Amino acid sequence: PTAGALAGCHVVVSAGGTREPLDPVRFLGNRSSGKQGFALAQVAASRGARVTLVAANAELPVPDGVDVVPVETALELQEAVRTATADADVVVMAAAVADFRPREYQDAKIKKTHAPGQEDSAPTIELVRNPDILAGLVADRGQGRSPVIVGFAAETGDASGDVLSLARAKLVRKRCDLLVANQVGRDLTFGKDDSLVHLLRPESEEVRTVGPASKTVVAEAVWDEVGELLATGGPV
Ligand code: C5P
Repeated sequence: PTAGALAGCHVVVSAGGTREPLDPVRFLGNRSSGKQGFALAQVAASRGARVTLVAANAELPVPDGVDVVPVETALELQEAVRTATADADVVVMAAAVADFRPREYQDAKIKKTHAPGQEDSAPTIELVRNPDILAGLVADRGQGRSPVIVGFAAETGDASGDVLSLARAKLVRKRCDLLVANQVGRDLTFGKDDSLVHLLRPESEEVRTVGPASKTVVAEAVWDEVGELLATGGPV
């Protein structure tokens, strides 16, 4: 019943990993490749959606028919996602967004000192919090249009819980419509071609597990779930 649910929809996908510059030659970054976000964009386009792909530092071929907005930092990603979301039916936050950025950007390259007695000194880099872009999208709901909002979570499982209970807690905290919990660690890490994911929705205890499978197969499963949400009248 949900085949074709994406046709004519505007979907926004964020992908890749943000970089937070320290000086003209250095940044704080992460290992996200952007592969999952690009696969999501490609599958959505093949299902007839208009796709805006907000791509943070991803060196990947752009899928046919996808509009790309390149960004570098979390603040740029926030701006691009917000602008694109104004008329969107679905937003998928697959990007790995830096939680922190350096408080100050140095216009000139940071140098080591050669002053006598200070040869071992090193700078302290102070960090500040970046906005939680997904939380901002959820908080803006109800002001006009209300897109379906999909979050991602990379979980390894730890002493405080297994992957599924951590993901369920994150879904409750984030209040998005679908959470894609990526099981990471062992052979399943950022940049790899195969993923193992669990798809969770707030109104159901059911969990759909996909994989280990290609990021295209994962993308198809995500859009199937989103298609169901759209077909049943959206999130609220
Ligand atoms: O809390 P955690 O960072 O694990 O949440 C991951 C989800 O939140 C992803 O969908 C990610 O794109 C999004 N996120 C965000 N803004 C941040 C950090 C994460 O939108 N500053």
